[in-house]
Amino acid sequence: MARDRRDSYYWQAKSDGYRSRASYKFKQINEKFEIVNKGDTIVDLGAAPGGWLQIAKELSGGRIVGVDLQRIVPIDGVDTIKGDITAERTIKKIIKLVGEEGADVVICDAAPNLSGNWSLDHARSIDLVTSALECAKIILKPKGHFVVKVFEGDMFKVFIDKVRNNFTYTRAYTPKASRSQSAEIYVVGKKFLTSPVRIGDEFEITIKKLGSGGDGAVVIEGFVVFVKNVEVGEHVRIKIEDVKPNFAFADVIERL
Ligand SMILES: C[S@@+](CC[C@H](N)C(=O)[O-])C[C@H]1O[C@@H](n2cnc3c(N)ncnc32)[C@H](O)[C@@H]1O
Repeated sequence: MARDRRDSYYWQAKSDGYRSRASYKFKQINEKFEIVNKGDTIVDLGAAPGGWLQIAKELSGGRIVGVDLQRIVPIDGVDTIKGDITAERTIKKIIKLVGEEGADVVICDAAPNLSGNWSLDHARSIDLVTSALECAKIILKPKGHFVVKVFEGDMFKVFIDKVRNNFTYTRAYTPKASRSQSAEIYVVGKKFLTSPVRIGDEFEITIKKLGSGGDGAVVIEGFVVFVKNVEVGEHVRIKIEDVKPNFAFADVIERL
């Protein structure tokens, strides 16, 4: 706390009426990545004391739901749940509040209890953010956005690859308001993918027609995949190289 008082964001939060200096981290992330649109439904995982909830409410004005192990002192127009984000019953409570249509944005600034042991804290953080990602995958609308705080370490890459596999656009970012000595980094996933194919998936297919750009076009479980350098009638094994919300691109890895 003594460290906070020497910090300009601490005083700025006090004068702006925000509950935490963390509010500015979410503000800066939103300024850079344009996460929130007016009217969005937003779910904040690990939300106490409520600084991010205040910003979410200001930016969206829509339905905002905050979840935390701790009680969140009520905020006008914000629903709160006291619960563990890793527990299934908490996810059910969230779904009840946001409705079956789902949320436009899921944000997570949750932090595990820190032990001071770097690798243990990193492992706990990875467990927590993996639960947050699983929760986001259940409650996000197609093309929804996800922001999550991670403590850096050797499992970071595996985690960000999981995010990358579920979103069209993924970046790691440290806002100015994060303390310079902090190990935290925010992962931003934009445009949640609900397609039946993923990068790295392989399929055996026959090219039945070419798309307007000259690539082969095949439909896999109702989803269009464009395949480069093929002719109509060719039977090939393909590997998915890139996935967009409404179509994917694949390369031929074997001509059969
Ligand atoms: C850094 S604070 C969040 C600050 C918040 N973004 C703000 O601006 O006020 C991290 C929060 O994560 C919560 N948390 C940690 N593990 C959790 C879990 N498993 N389920 C729910 N909340 C959790 C903690 O209780 C704590 O309140």
